[in-house]
Amino acid sequence: MSKINLIFAASLNSVIGQDNKIPWHSPTDLLLFKARTVNNVVIMGRKTFESLDNKTLPLRENIVVSKTLNASNVCVAPSLGEAIDFAKYFKKDIFIIGGNSLLNEGLEICDNIYLTVINKKIPTNEGTVYTDLDFKDTWNKYQVIVAKDNKGFLFKIKSKVDFQEENTACVLKCTSYVLEAIK
Ligand SMILES: NC(=O)c1ccc[n+]([C@@H]2O[C@H](COP(=O)([O-])OP(=O)(O)OC[C@H]3O[C@@H](n4cnc5c(N)ncnc54)[C@H](OP(=O)(O)O)[C@@H]3O)[C@@H](O)[C@H]2O)c1
Repeated sequence: MSKINLIFAASLNSVIGQDNKIPWHSPTDLLLFKARTVNNVVIMGRKTFESLDNKTLPLRENIVVSKTLNASNVCVAPSLGEAIDFAKYFKKDIFIIGGNSLLNEGLEICDNIYLTVINKKIPTNEGTVYTDLDFKDTWNKYQVIVAKDNKGFLFKIKSKVDFQEENTACVLKCTSYVLEAIK
């Protein structure tokens, strides 16, 4: 059965986007994002699709949630529920990749959350998009796996289902920091 996952990155002050871009560059995070999502289905909001210059992510089935988008290069669904119904036909894992309202809606139905905590506060402006997922409250419901790259970015994986993750040493090393980061 297809698993439903959230995958996103947020700064310490809950920023996920700015001026329709992502306001940091983490090659490790991009690699992890790619490794997890390739050969699977990605579901995104219309503005996130626009932030990719209206191009689909290669080697993945792409579905955009929008009531207004008229595009010939991508499947468009008018709601998250309909996007997921459609995604299930592919019999692959499903990744909801943002933005904020889709992550919120997806939280209720997901099996896993792959969250990269960007280890800094991003200066904000009128074009800042935040996640308002309550990390602290929702975190306890999940198994937490944490790893850290050499630039200090933290990768957190929350899972409602059992799965093995590679880096137990990193988990121990980072746990106290993560508790700080998700306050
Ligand atoms: N840090 C990360 O991991 C990450 C991930 C993804 C995106 N981003 C960033 O986040 C920003 C974009 O996010 P955003 O939250 O502003 O916009 P978004 O969710 O990508 O797009 C919003 C639009 O998507 C459609 N939509 C979203 N949720 C819907 C729902 N539940 N039902 C029906 N339609 C829905 C609507 O389109 P219509 O108005 O056309 O109906 C809505 O106006 C960008 O800066 C992007 O770079 C960051």
